[in-house]
Amino acid sequence: MTSTYHIVLLPGDGIGPEVVAGTRRVLEELAPAFELAFRFETHLMGGCAIDASGRPLPEETLAACKQADAVLLGAVGGPKWSDPNAPVRPEQGLLALRKELGLYANLRPVRIFPQLRNASSLKPEVLEGVDLLVVRELTGGIYFGPREEGPDRSYDTMLYTRPEIERVVRVAARAARRRRKHLTSVDKANVLGVSRLWRRVTTEVMANEFPDVTLEHQLVDAMAMHLIRRPADFDVIVSGNLFGDILTDEAAMLAGSMGMLPSASLGEGTRGLYEPIHGSAPDIAGQGIANPLATILSAAMMLRHSFAQEAAAQAIEDAVARALAAGYRTPDLAAVAAADQTVEVVGTEAMVSVVCDFLHTD
Ligand code: IPM
Ligand code: MG
Repeated sequence: MTSTYHIVLLPGDGIGPEVVAGTRRVLEELAPAFELAFRFETHLMGGCAIDASGRPLPEETLAACKQADAVLLGAVGGPKWSDPNAPVRPEQGLLALRKELGLYANLRPVRIFPQLRNASSLKPEVLEGVDLLVVRELTGGIYFGPREEGPDRSYDTMLYTRPEIERVVRVAARAARRRRKHLTSVDKANVLGVSRLWRRVTTEVMANEFPDVTLEHQLVDAMAMHLIRRPADFDVIVSGNLFGDILTDEAAMLAGSMGMLPSASLGEGTRGLYEPIHGSAPDIAGQGIANPLATILSAAMMLRHSFAQEAAAQAIEDAVARALAAGYRTPDLAAVAAADQTVEVVGTEAMVSVVCDFLHTD
């Protein structure tokens, strides 16, 4: 029997529409073999929504997302909407969407495709054995605390409550249990009171509910260093919103490019928001050269986490690995290819076609 899923597409700004269109093509190509059917609906969010309606997250977009089984997002933002004096910003749409859908746990796996080991700015031996999952708290912390903005005085507040910390730590610990049973919690407890609460609550949850998972605490500044010095030592990393945002851009460089990292944002139910961790890359928007793989891999996460279609998720990930193994590279990855690698530099659509072709090979 065919399973039908309702997916809202939010292409957004910059390269967003290009990578989302490509990912839709991959999902459509995949569907018949796994007896899946997708119903797609496209809506405005971000800068394009500001242009059309004055608001970054129009009500109809939010309503559609609340009706959907899952949401696939490209990227939001760009210089056109970056004036610090602008009354609204594209990013506010994304933050409101995460909050409104209750997506408090942001899963950002960092996997190194062996073919891309040379694409990283780090030495290949440092990358040996790297397999990380960063779980970033997504609906609290300094992104959502009390704030004020004035001409001469502004502040944002890093605020966490016990339940907010408990629930995201549980998500991370459950993931660690299915992996190498090692959890690293990142905070700034030597300075911030909110981090001391984070550390206390994390320690309690782990001792009471996950005694089988090893817990380690790291200060965020030290973690930034460990992440590029000995990344293979970590398994699951859990952190607050801002620290997770920063550390995952850093972690993306392990994988060789921002264009490679997918993410899943989850809450209590199965509905999730799936998006590449990269931004709208306005410098290359519209040129047809954006790397679609992070978005394609986000769709694989959607199949896994929202639809429980593990085999289909795996099929996409395998097809991506094969495309890379066959030497296909978008320019972001090609520029740093090793001298002994034969690569074929392709644009977004060609890369999507290659991935679609590899869906059908075993
Ligand atoms: C991310 C992005 C967003 C964030 C921006 C676009 C609001 O950097 O998803 O990592 O800071 O969360
Ligand atoms: Mg970010």
